[in-house]
Amino acid sequence: MKLPEAPEYVRAIAPYVPGKPIAETARELGLAEDDILKMASNESPLGASPKALAAIRGALDVLHYYPDGSGYELKNALARRLGVKPDNLVLGNGSNDVLELVARAYLRPGDSAVYSQHAFMVYPLAVQAIGATGIVVPARGYGNDLAAMAAAVRADTRIVFVANPNNPTGTFNPWAEVRALLESVPASVLVVVDEAYEEYLPDALRSPTTAWLARFPNLVISRTLSKAYGLAGLRVGYVIADPAVAEVMNRVRQPFNVNHLAMVAACAALDDAEFIAKTRANNAAGLAQLEAGFKALGLEYIPSHGNFITVRVAEADRVYRELLKQGVIVRPIAGYGMPGHLRVTVGLPEQNARFLAALERAIGKR
Ligand SMILES: Cc1ncc(COP(=O)(O)O)c(C=O)c1O
Repeated sequence: MKLPEAPEYVRAIAPYVPGKPIAETARELGLAEDDILKMASNESPLGASPKALAAIRGALDVLHYYPDGSGYELKNALARRLGVKPDNLVLGNGSNDVLELVARAYLRPGDSAVYSQHAFMVYPLAVQAIGATGIVVPARGYGNDLAAMAAAVRADTRIVFVANPNNPTGTFNPWAEVRALLESVPASVLVVVDEAYEEYLPDALRSPTTAWLARFPNLVISRTLSKAYGLAGLRVGYVIADPAVAEVMNRVRQPFNVNHLAMVAACAALDDAEFIAKTRANNAAGLAQLEAGFKALGLEYIPSHGNFITVRVAEADRVYRELLKQGVIVRPIAGYGMPGHLRVTVGLPEQNARFLAALERAIGKR
């Protein structure tokens, strides 16, 4: 019996490879799960916001109901916080979901979308799944070359994707460059600014983009509660956009794409200023600790604005496996066109120290 055949562009998709799970690593290496340190997926080393956890406990008795498909409470909480209207928002099952919604709503087969070399993997995946063409613009210093990306826009381009800061490189484009990109692309092209790591930026660099929406209705800002808010396992993200764009995106959204516990937790987490402050402080100190460690080992790294940092090591794949044997999971990024680098998520001080000691052994310096 011959199975139905998916379109060629779907069959050509190379599936996303996530960070290696703790349980799988424990099984394969015969280690105890508790002894494994995962620094592979840019997750929060501080766990989730305690306020979010308390809110979830209080919401368990309504799980037999469908969630509120309109996301009323969460949209209102976000709108208050961001100074926008609820109809500027689209909620997603993680920001991965909203990034796909933009692609699904605005791309046709044969259209094109622009993104950078070393950009977040979900952009090519979302574009390919539709049969659209990705235009990959060479990176500048591992980051987005926004002038070149603007110049790469063609008549059939519908979307430009920009992560700022970018993952996996941690690079940051000054907001004035992002503004210049918006000034230079046609208004008919959506500019998706992915701000998954915005909360980690120092005060002076925090994003001004929501204030630009009135001037640029083609601007789409995506954010997540997976990183600084520590809710990766619940899956909550959102888009801030012009109401007309949000309305179109909502048409292709599953009616109940964000679950009840995720929304309840997100509302509570948004109010947990103390947790975010702790997260930001731990991250800044951790980046400094990791940079100092890399310098001491004579390793080159890419200065990062995220909750992770990318370091160049000879024989990255071997070093990755040596780290695994010591129970430390980091992220190889050959799939991002960086076979000589490893990406490590910032941990607690003692976790960073354990990783650095393991790295020293893995590269044969101890
Ligand atoms: C740049 C960037 N955007 C979006 C995401 C998606 O995160 P989530 O779907 O958990 O919101 C990630 C996650 O790694 C990311 O690095």
